[in-house]
Amino acid sequence: MTDLPHKTIASKHGVRGFELEPGLLNDCSDILRFLRTRRSVMSMEIVPPGPDEATLASIMEAACRVPDHGKLTPWRFILMRGEECGRFAEFLRWRWRQLKEDGVEVLERPVVVTEQAPLVVTVISRVVEHPKIPEWEQRLSAGAACQNLLLAAQAAGFAAHWRTGWPAYDPEVLRHLGVEDGERVAAFIHIGTRKADAPMLTDRRRPFWRDLTTSYGELAAHNKADDGAGDGA
Ligand SMILES: Cc1cc2nc3c(=O)[nH]c(=O)nc-3n(C[C@H](O)[C@H](O)[C@H](O)COP(=O)(O)O)c2cc1C
Repeated sequence: MTDLPHKTIASKHGVRGFELEPGLLNDCSDILRFLRTRRSVMSMEIVPPGPDEATLASIMEAACRVPDHGKLTPWRFILMRGEECGRFAEFLRWRWRQLKEDGVEVLERPVVVTEQAPLVVTVISRVVEHPKIPEWEQRLSAGAACQNLLLAAQAAGFAAHWRTGWPAYDPEVLRHLGVEDGERVAAFIHIGTRKADAPMLTDRRRPFWRDLTTSYGELAAHNKADDGAGDGA
């Protein structure tokens, strides 16, 4: 059910899947091809260099060009570059130790990957009071900003990974980042270059879109059958 070379994977949670051939991934030859083959690089494999100023500006501009009902701009960003990533990682390490001492189970991975990243963009979802635009739609728009940022970084030839993990939910980290009441960390997007010695990038299982899609016609038939069942009652 995809015309791209792939292997089918056994179903999981009742959803069948496939993986594209590794050589096809992140093919930037045209936009649709890229969207169909894009693949994140895990942050453990992301190291310097990151984008230069001009490329970063283009990526950030793309992040802001997203659907946004009511033009509310319900998101903002915090940029960490080079040694700023190191300083944030130092804070995370301090907090990680504190949580561990308090008996809270937290992974060290966010610390390590932040330390080695050349660029981390924190995307913050913020909700603007509005009589017609619900919070839900504003959170979705922030998700779209995250995805555009990720896509733009990948399209510019960089390795990128959308992360959250415990730092996105820890009150001390949020305070450190100046995240205010009602705001949420939607993403820490790590951007850089894939380690030269990383194993070949392989795909991750993807669902077949048809398995997740119902045509309106089928729905109408289903409703009719239900109505029919009700007739005899
Ligand atoms: C909101 C959100 C939070 C995520 N947080 C993490 C995370 O903390 N760590 C992680 O390894 N992957 C995380 N992921 C998953 C990766 O970003 C990525 O989607 C996944 O590894 C699959 O790669 P793909 O982008 O090639 O589909 C998160 C994804 C989303 C949407």
